[in-house]
Amino acid sequence: MKILFVCTGNTCRSVMAEFILKEKLKEKLGEYDENKFQIDSAGIMADNVSVISRNAKKVLEENYIKSSFYDRKCKLFDEKMIENYDIILTVTLRHKDFILSNFKVDSENVFTLSEFVGDVCEIEDPFMGSVDTYRITFNKLSLLIDKLLYKLNILEDNMGKVYEVKHPLITHKLSIMRDKNTNVSEFRNLCNDISIFLGYEALKDFEVVNEEIETPITKMNAKKINEENITLTVVLRAGLGMLDGLLKVLPKAKVGHIGLYRDETTLKAVEYFSKFPTNIENSCVMLLDPMIATGGSIVDSINILKRYGVKNIKVLSLIASPEGLQKIKDEFSDIDIYVAAIDENLNEKGYIVPGLGDAGDRIFGTF
Ligand code: PRP
Ligand code: URA
Repeated sequence: MKILFVCTGNTCRSVMAEFILKEKLKEKLGEYDENKFQIDSAGIMADNVSVISRNAKKVLEENYIKSSFYDRKCKLFDEKMIENYDIILTVTLRHKDFILSNFKVDSENVFTLSEFVGDVCEIEDPFMGSVDTYRITFNKLSLLIDKLLYKLNILEDNMGKVYEVKHPLITHKLSIMRDKNTNVSEFRNLCNDISIFLGYEALKDFEVVNEEIETPITKMNAKKINEENITLTVVLRAGLGMLDGLLKVLPKAKVGHIGLYRDETTLKAVEYFSKFPTNIENSCVMLLDPMIATGGSIVDSINILKRYGVKNIKVLSLIASPEGLQKIKDEFSDIDIYVAAIDENLNEKGYIVPGLGDAGDRIFGTF
């Protein structure tokens, strides 16, 4: 995988992005393997002489990102780089437009970093700014690069993956859910609608088997899935808000329940109930919980399912935090996770930001 970050002078934003991504790869994979990843940066106006700006280096070092390459000269973006990289990620739309209008390049390989990860934030130029300005730039880049890692599934090897299911209809419905003025019944309907879309995506590789049927015209071998081989397992309470939607499209699926609540002081999940259909161990379990915050509830739920011998688990959730996803991936490398959005982070109370608030309360009106 070859990724090139591009800004103006290649002394601040793109070079920070390059070193942040290399560091995160090192953290997650134990080392930054240059045979597997080639991460670099360039500037559309770089003078090929300057080095990383003093404040960019200072802020990277404050965040324990040290490199012997900080005295490397900046690089001017050129024609050759286009062929050498799989993806070119610019820090703003202006840089992307510049590349598309001045170079012969496949527009499918050039994105702003934000748009590539499904965000909207532009990374303004901190050049000549104070250390604080650079800190803000660092934080924005760091968040976007967390999302980049998930988007590329770089951390997942060929094991379980995180799928952020992107579709205008999902984004639209989720935006309405996020609005604090959306009422309980509307919230519930939207939660079910989005769950259907997530289920649709999660079942895209599900086995279909031949069954002979007769249309009004003739006999045929029709392809069907074995719905009864699917167990929709809800994490109580809020997971119930996803169940009706999925049962609408999978009416013969079985249903399991896991009773957990999150202790608001320790933020740890507390188990109070579990009930599963027989033979759950041979079933494909779709684990439903609209929110992955610290990830504790899903980790505990997966442990419960594994205790029952379940091998095939897919997690479906509306909104996840990067921290929560990381926790799940750290514990289980074989689980596929389907989410409608990966949000920014958690606040001090363990709520997802921007999130949608307490999903259970909004589904059941228990404010
Ligand atoms: C919410 C949500 C998840 C959990 C997520 O449930 O539905 O189950 O929090 O947080 P975590 O990732 O930090 O574990 P809550 O505990 O509020 O219970 P409820 O569904 O009964 O409202
Ligand atoms: N549980 C929720 O319902 N919402 C959050 O933001 C975090 C945990």
